Amino acid sequence: MSSQIVVAVDGPSGSGKSSTARGVARRLGLAYLDTGAMYRAITWALLERGVDLDDAAAVAAAAADVVLRSGTDPVNPTIEADGVDVSEPIRGADVTSNVSVVAAVPDVRALLVQAQRDAIRDSLDGIVVEGRDIGTAVAPDAPVKVYLVADADARARRRASEQGHDDADATQEALARRDHLDSSRAASPLTKADDAVLIDGTFLTLDEVIDAVVALVEEARGR
Ligand code: DC
Repeated sequence: MSSQIVVAVDGPSGSGKSSTARGVARRLGLAYLDTGAMYRAITWALLERGVDLDDAAAVAAAAADVVLRSGTDPVNPTIEADGVDVSEPIRGADVTSNVSVVAAVPDVRALLVQAQRDAIRDSLDGIVVEGRDIGTAVAPDAPVKVYLVADADARARRRASEQGHDDADATQEALARRDHLDSSRAASPLTKADDAVLIDGTFLTLDEVIDAVVALVEEARGR
């Protein structure tokens, strides 16, 4: 096997992780894995099945039955649950407002962490993996770890415009609620790994953030 590189990109919602991780993967010809999409796809499947999301045991049992498939091409990342292309519905309000509860269930995390490690193992040249716990739990030995942040205003504006409206205040509240749930849960909470490089993208363009991560990869390859 050639030298495989693993790039972990973590950070709160709306910090620009997806655009950055995809951009880095495209630039370097690496695979790309959106682990948030996996938590969202499980949430979509559980909502479809009418599972009571407050019942952690029921959530864990039903999640184990869902067949997930993640396509890792950064030009066209795909996500399927039980053979259904769910790339659109997983971005809807229903999934977005319920995903943090599902992602806090330890058995769901164990299931997805295993699937994520399998995808990392199967990537030949390497992979850029984005999420909340990649540098801390999924791939603690990744040679490049980035923790991407942006101020709350910038994140809310970005998310609101992605969603096609300009109500940044409502978006900021929703993001704050989700960050709180993601950071305060017992199982692998959102937190910066000690050896992750902190990048604040508030005043940087997307290309500048991508440049910074690519430079870290080149440095790691030269070590
Ligand atoms: O990045 P995103 O907004 O698509 O993530 C959706 C949710 O999934 C988010 O609220 C936190 C959770 N998540 C997680 O707990 N661990 C990950 N590695 C990725 C996402």
